[in-house]
Amino acid sequence: MTTPRFGIEQLTLSYFRCYDSLSLVLDRELPPVVLSGSNGAGKTNVLEAISFLVPGRGLRNAHLADISYRIGMPDVVSLPHAWTVSARVRTPDGVCQIGTGKAEQRRQIRIDGQNIKSQDELGKTLSILWLTPAFDRIFNGDPATRRRFLDRLVQSFLPSYAHITTEYAYAFKQWMSLLCAGKTDPAWLTALEQQIAQNGVAIAAARVDVVDRLNVLLEQAPETDFPRAQIFLKGAVEDFVRSHSALQAETYFADLLAKSRHLVSDGGHACGPHTADLSVLNLNKNTDAALCSTGEQKALLLSIIFAQTQALMKEKGQCPLLLLDEGLSHLDAHRQGALFELILSLPSQVWLTGVDEKAFAPLENKAEFFCIDNAKAYRAVA
Ligand SMILES: Nc1ncnc2c1ncn2[C@@H]1O[C@H](COP(=O)(O)OP(=O)(O)O)[C@@H](O)[C@H]1O
Ligand SMILES: [Mg+2]
Repeated sequence: MTTPRFGIEQLTLSYFRCYDSLSLVLDRELPPVVLSGSNGAGKTNVLEAISFLVPGRGLRNAHLADISYRIGMPDVVSLPHAWTVSARVRTPDGVCQIGTGKAEQRRQIRIDGQNIKSQDELGKTLSILWLTPAFDRIFNGDPATRRRFLDRLVQSFLPSYAHITTEYAYAFKQWMSLLCAGKTDPAWLTALEQQIAQNGVAIAAARVDVVDRLNVLLEQAPETDFPRAQIFLKGAVEDFVRSHSALQAETYFADLLAKSRHLVSDGGHACGPHTADLSVLNLNKNTDAALCSTGEQKALLLSIIFAQTQALMKEKGQCPLLLLDEGLSHLDAHRQGALFELILSLPSQVWLTGVDEKAFAPLENKAEFFCIDNAKAYRAVA
C-alpha cells in the first residue's frame, strides 16, 4: 500500500447548483479523480463545491444566493433550501470534517463540528488552486481575470487575504458612493482613504511577495514540457511597496486617493490594487504570453500553478489540492502526457473534468473515474 495523498475522502453536497444531493466516497489512497460527462452534466459544479472549502467566493466568484439548487426562474419558483457542502479532508495535520453553506444570507463554516466565525480558519486548514476555462486566453482578456488568478495564488499563501480584499472592496465602494453622490465631508473621506490605503498596501505587499517567490522557482524550474515563465506585476501601489516601508506606502496611497477625489466625482477612476495587472514572459521562447497560443498560455498557467504548489510545500509544508476544470483542453498529446505525470507525482489529490473519458486513458488504474450524468455520479470503470 502506498502513502495516501492529502485530499478529500468524502464529499457531500445538498441543494448545491444542479444537485439536490450528492455523495462521493473516494478511494482511501486519494488518487486523482476524473469526472467525465456531457455539457451541463454537473462536472464543474462539483469542483465549484470543493472550491468553497477554502475562503472566498469559489471558482465562479459566485453570489451565495445563485448557488442554491433551484428549478425555474428565481421569481417563479424559489426553493427554501440552503445549500451545503461537507467534506472529510485528509491534511498534513490529520483528518478533519469541513462544512460550509449559506445560512441567513451569510456563509456559515464548521470545522470538526465547531462553528467558525472567520473564513481565515478554512485557509489555515486547507489550500486549493484551480484552473478553469474562464482563464483561457487570460493574457488577452480582461485584467480582472488576471487579478483573480493572481489573488487565488496569494490567497493560498496568506489565509487572511480574502478578508483583507473584502475590507478593501467594502471601504472603496463606500468612498466611491460618497464621491459620486457629491458628499465631500473631508473627515469621512479621509477616514475611508486611510482604511483603503491600509488594506490596499497589505494586498500589494502580499502580491509582490508571492510573485517574487514564484519568479525564483520559475527561473530555477527544470526543462519540462511546461514553459519556464517570469511574472511581471504592474501597479502604482505594488511598485511603491517594493522600495518603501508599509507606512510610507500607506501615506503615498492615501494621498493618491485624496488627489483623485475630483476625478472620481466627475465619473473618473482612482487607481490602486483593484487596477493592478500582471503580464508573463514565456522564457522558453522569450515571448510575451499575450502573443502565445491558447495552449501555450494554458501551459504557462500550469507552470505557475505547479511552481506555487512547490512554494507551498517548501514554505508551509502544505500541498494544495488542484481543481483542473476541462484540464486537458487546448493541450497537445505530449503536454497532456506530461500533465498526467506531474499530477501523479503530487502528494495531494487532483480533480480533473472533461467531456471524453477516453482522453484520460493514461490514468487507467491510477485515478478514480466518475461519470456525471444529469446531476448523478456513477463510478466508471476506466
Ligand atoms: N442554482 C442552480 N440550480 C439548479 N441548476 C443549476 C444552478 N446553477 C447552475 N445550474 C445548472 O447546472 C448544470 C450543470 O452545470 P456544470 O456543472 O457547469 O456543467 P458541466 O458538466 O458542463 O461542467 C447546468 O445545466 C446549469 O444550468
Ligand atoms: Mg464544465
